[in-house]
Amino acid sequence: MGPGALDELAPLSTIFAKVYAARRPRRLAVLGVATGNGLEHVDLHLTGRIVGLDLNLSYLAVARQRLRRLGAALELHCSDVERAQLDAGRFDLVHAALLLEYVDVRVLMPRVASWLAPEGAFTVVLQLPGGPAVEDSRYPSVRALAQATRLVPPGEVRNLATQEGLVERRAFVVPLPTGRRYFAALYEKAGPAGDSEIARAVARACRVPLAKGEPEVPR
Ligand SMILES: C[S@@+](CC[C@H](N)C(=O)[O-])C[C@H]1O[C@@H](n2cnc3c(N)ncnc32)[C@H](O)[C@@H]1O
Repeated sequence: MGPGALDELAPLSTIFAKVYAARRPRRLAVLGVATGNGLEHVDLHLTGRIVGLDLNLSYLAVARQRLRRLGAALELHCSDVERAQLDAGRFDLVHAALLLEYVDVRVLMPRVASWLAPEGAFTVVLQLPGGPAVEDSRYPSVRALAQATRLVPPGEVRNLATQEGLVERRAFVVPLPTGRRYFAALYEKAGPAGDSEIARAVARACRVPLAKGEPEVPR
């Protein structure tokens, strides 16, 4: 991640920590894992497999170095999430923070749904409109990003998730000190029994706000 991303790492890591604590996944996939921000929260007693995907090999090298303690449990693949071959039905949590802005969500959503185990969860963090414009950055590398990304409306993600049988369980707006705002949401794949005990437990756990004073997204 380039300069200017630094202000965003801590909140993204905090969001991941909350999601991770709520789901306690045995098998985790992180899409657009970059340098592994957030994976410092992974507990190897809970999670035996962590798959990280990113297009940028140099980011993955940094992640491997930073996260040596995860050893063989951490599998990092330099691949496009729109083409990567992951095991079907084998992930309890798939997390994608600030990735959907780079990809075709219509292509990605059915793929994610196929990777999730029954009652598995897909968690996303989207950037909302407003805050400092990327185009105004003093860093050319950050300005260049503006050309490659598109803000994805939360409603679009919700609709595509619903089409794939994923139910939105929680959704929050997370305001940042920079003036930017994130949208964080959890979509759950229905298990054979529908609204399971796990789902209810997660809903209870997620009632803890992500940050003080943070509003929940109105429906
Ligand atoms: C804003 S960064 C992600 C931040 C990170 N998830 C975090 O929580 O700090 C976006 C990442 O997505 C990666 N990326 C963009 N398009 C991708 C694609 N089609 N497949 C895999 N990774 C992609 C970029 O290389 C970059 O590392």
